[in-house]
Amino acid sequence: MQKLRMGIVGCGRISDCHFEAIKNNNETMEIAAVCDINPTNLQKAQQKTGANPYTNIDDMLKFEKLNCVSICTPNGFHYENARKVLKAGINVIVEKPLTLCLKEGKKLISLAKKKGKHVFLIHQNRFNPTIQCVKKALDAGSFGKIYMITSNVFWYRDDDYYKNPAWHGSKKIDGGAFITQASHYTDIMNWFAKSSLKSIYTLGKTRERKIETEDCGSTIIEWKNNTIGNLNLSVLTYNENYEGSITIIGEKGLVKIGGVALNKILDWKFEGDVEQFCDVSYDVDSVYGKGHTPYYKSIAETLIDGKPFLISEKEAISSLTLLCGIVDSMDKGKKITY
Ligand SMILES: NC(=O)c1ccc[n+]([C@@H]2O[C@H](COP(=O)([O-])OP(=O)(O)OC[C@H]3O[C@@H](n4cnc5c(N)ncnc54)[C@H](O)[C@@H]3O)[C@@H](O)[C@H]2O)c1
Repeated sequence: MQKLRMGIVGCGRISDCHFEAIKNNNETMEIAAVCDINPTNLQKAQQKTGANPYTNIDDMLKFEKLNCVSICTPNGFHYENARKVLKAGINVIVEKPLTLCLKEGKKLISLAKKKGKHVFLIHQNRFNPTIQCVKKALDAGSFGKIYMITSNVFWYRDDDYYKNPAWHGSKKIDGGAFITQASHYTDIMNWFAKSSLKSIYTLGKTRERKIETEDCGSTIIEWKNNTIGNLNLSVLTYNENYEGSITIIGEKGLVKIGGVALNKILDWKFEGDVEQFCDVSYDVDSVYGKGHTPYYKSIAETLIDGKPFLISEKEAISSLTLLCGIVDSMDKGKKITY
């Protein structure tokens, strides 16, 4: 079987997770090309992967025969780069967030449809054994009615984080802490809620950092099935990443997931249904977790065997609708209703 030829655009901090995940799936895929506008980052990536290096995406798409390209550039550049990949008739993987604007996200999905290609949005934590286990319990109806889904993202990002690279904290390229720090959490809350959005109200403030976007905030989400969600966010938590958790409060059970990358089941309480508990907590090395490897495995299964992908294009848009709604409510200072 011919291996999938993969390209990576943007070889900064997260790209190592992509290199490693592709290596871990080397029976089905290989890194054929790497691209970065920064020559130092490009050279490092070329040395790590042995792939053909490009300083611009247009040349990479022109000279390489690729099956799939991963966009790992800063958030505000996702749309333009992903659009180029799809226009070239190639499947695209996009790091979170899909785009910074819902309209652009929808345009990518319709372009992919037109070209008969996939858009794979990266929310690697969906593949965590912890998240999979809770999702199974939700789908089996073990919680009964879901009353609330709450999340705390209490992280620490100092002034240096916002100086280097310069796109951190910019409205146009970063989009803010809800988008950059909280989007894995909002994605999973939305996935767990299993309903469409009814309303969102967000309050966000820039209390301390010298940035254009929020460093603290809180959002209240209402889904059409009456589930209430709330997410509290701060990047000013004293000196450390203190908590990143999701708690589900159901009629017949309560589960709290935490750890550095949603890798620990912290509480699991069900009415008599204890046998559903799976001891799936594990350790991670960083906030990026270990989800990129199963994520790429699943991409190979979709591209080679035609299996449906865990985050369908419809779900990618649903996730982005929530994220953009949170920011829209904060920017307008009013409740958004759907
Ligand atoms: N899934 C996760 O858990 C996770 C974690 C961190 C970052 N991310 C996402 O990954 C993306 C990259 O984040 P990062 O922390 O690696 O950023 P980074 O700034 O470290 O790296 C971005 C790289 O993209 C390059 N670049 C910029 N414009 C380019 C272009 N037009 N063509 C080619 N290269 C270009 C830059 O030179 C840089 O090397 C962001 O969207 C971020 O939100 C996801």
